[in-house]
Amino acid sequence: MSITHITVIGGGTMGNGITHVAAQSGFTVTLVDVNDAALERAMKTITSNLERQVKKETISADDMKATLARISTSTSLEQGASNADLVIEAASERMEIKRQIFATLDAVCKPTAILASNTSSISITELAGGTKRADKFIGMHFFNPVPVMKLCEIIRGLATSDDTYATIKALAETMGKVPVEVQDYPGFISNRILMPMINEAVYCVMEGIASVEDIDTVMKLGMAHPMGPLTLADFIGLDVCLSIMEVLHNGLGDSKYRPCPLLRKMVAAGHLGRKSGKGFYAY
Ligand code: 3HC
Repeated sequence: MSITHITVIGGGTMGNGITHVAAQSGFTVTLVDVNDAALERAMKTITSNLERQVKKETISADDMKATLARISTSTSLEQGASNADLVIEAASERMEIKRQIFATLDAVCKPTAILASNTSSISITELAGGTKRADKFIGMHFFNPVPVMKLCEIIRGLATSDDTYATIKALAETMGKVPVEVQDYPGFISNRILMPMINEAVYCVMEGIASVEDIDTVMKLGMAHPMGPLTLADFIGLDVCLSIMEVLHNGLGDSKYRPCPLLRKMVAAGHLGRKSGKGFYAY
């Protein structure tokens, strides 16, 4: 099917990045969030990220204007999604919230519309099971910062149809992303590999093997990672890292995925990384 109108649910870091890239790729986009303040914040972020691209001369001022003109906002899920060909959900990583959103979307969206979740670790098969269109349900996992990172993991639920997969793969390519097909297992590929590495780095801190800075230096200079694992953990959010480790531990049942006690302690203390002003580093 052809997609022209995309609705994005949630204007946080991932949602505003997806909105930005979809509109820049020529799609009409409606961004939905719970209140006007959240939508204003999201539009401010999109505008300043587009301004950064204009300054770097990767896009023109006219491209920026046209991109912003393709974005509308709404605080109503029903109104914002009723005309969409595709809805990409990027709301909080809580099963109850997502299931509620998808139940509403299933009821108000066109029967042909595809529903996608940007979840980093919740089962696509389980989310799809709460709708009557499991064949038109799929995972589109983008990476932060969305305008910069080239990857889009495309997660096939047990019932995702070949047509849905083919449409979303082509769409990701139109958005300038490199799609990778992944089956629905805990953590998919990205977080199955990334989070145990971050968790192991936290064990190295807890065991006093080296300082936070030195652990990051090892991975930056020895393995050419753009950010060390502890800087990256702060960037992602330590609560998000912990919750994904729990999904891996519970879903795969192997003790090698046990979350590091220091990670739990820091989350309990509210040291969540950049967003709280303190994590492994102070911001
Ligand atoms: N929007 C648009 N452009 C942006 C941007 C944004 N939000 N943020 C950065 N950029 C651009 C900059 O303008 C710059 O462009 P240029 O190359 O043309 O000069 C380029 O990106 C690099 O940015 P900076 O020069 O400001 O800074 P760095 O070189 O330090 O790069 C970084 C910043 C791109 C974030 C880099 O450090 C990086 O790649 N880090 C790793 C990020 C990562 O691993 N992300 C995945 C997280 S996991 C995830 O999202 C999944 C979830 O499920 C947990």
